[in-house]
Amino acid sequence: MIMVKGSNMATTRILLADDYAQVREMLAALLQQDGYDVMTAGNGVEAMAMAERQAPDIILSDILMPEMDGFEFCRRIKEHPSLHRIPFVFYTATYVDEEDRRLAQAVGASRFIVKPAPPEVLLEELRQVLADYRQQRLEVPQKPLLEDRELLRMHDRVVEHKLYHKIHELEQERDMVAAYEQRMRHVLIAVLVAISRAVGARDAYNEMHQVRVSQLARCIGQEMGLDAEVVDGIRLSGAVHDLGKLHLPAEILNKPSALSDVEYRLVQTHAEVGYNILKDIDFPWPVADVCYQHHERWDGTGYPRGLKGKEICLAARVVAVADVVEAMTHHRPWRPAKTMEEAMQEIEAGRGSRYCPDVVDATLAMIRGNRFHAWDQEP
Ligand SMILES: [Fe+2]
Ligand SMILES: [Fe+2]
Repeated sequence: MIMVKGSNMATTRILLADDYAQVREMLAALLQQDGYDVMTAGNGVEAMAMAERQAPDIILSDILMPEMDGFEFCRRIKEHPSLHRIPFVFYTATYVDEEDRRLAQAVGASRFIVKPAPPEVLLEELRQVLADYRQQRLEVPQKPLLEDRELLRMHDRVVEHKLYHKIHELEQERDMVAAYEQRMRHVLIAVLVAISRAVGARDAYNEMHQVRVSQLARCIGQEMGLDAEVVDGIRLSGAVHDLGKLHLPAEILNKPSALSDVEYRLVQTHAEVGYNILKDIDFPWPVADVCYQHHERWDGTGYPRGLKGKEICLAARVVAVADVVEAMTHHRPWRPAKTMEEAMQEIEAGRGSRYCPDVVDATLAMIRGNRFHAWDQEP
């Protein structure tokens, strides 16, 4: 609630009720400039209390407001023993039907202005209402024109109608937001896939590694019965889990023999590097964490931080198993590829030690149940 003193019409005090702070501030500034003393309130209850404390010369009120709407506020003013003579003007964007006008008149309003009116029109309307009132050219309604019961019925009808439209508008807005989010999600996915390709392009021996890890991780997530949203996160973080390898020298990345200790330590930095590249992007999935944690092991023997058990996020635990299985089952110049069953035996041996038991169980069930075919579909 504020009271602002104007300059040249200091004797005219206007009470302005509107639930939108921005509209309130703009109108208050306009009225103040035109010389009004302006009192503002955010709903009918607040405005009523304000009017009782200090009676205004005129009231300008929105209709659709929380706590008490403009119709009820007007009715109470018109029934009030000392405030009923105050001219009451509605200013509304939501209530613009003929029935709204009739109800406004029935509760005792002097005028009904549709938002947004040009400032000069609004000010002129107010001037006319005040002039008519002061010169008694216009009889200011001093009480509601209809009986309470009839008013109430009319009020209910109008409000119900408006609420129906409001709900419809909100539903449309919600659908638009959902469609926008969907578009943004597609863009995010496209960006991640592009990044994944950029990493793959530098890796002569295993260009498709991240793509395959992503496919396998997604299927493991589905086999575990995880929510589609979580599975999406696993799939996408799988596609970029080795992003940090972008900073490794191509000679190390493409070395046709096993790495030396120093080279291996350098390669290990890719987890943290990937995390640092992505950590400030507000993905709806733990993409940066997966980069950071996909070499952590269930028993704490992994790197870079030696996280244990559920300290490692679920997506990273899934990607870790998919990463190992993909690597084992694909050829590298310094070692032959294992069969899928040999890879299963390895992760089974690491169940509960190196790898999360739930993830291993799902992987074994899926592979041995012959439910994983994603790699077969590769070109
Ligand atoms: Fe990695
Ligand atoms: Fe990897």
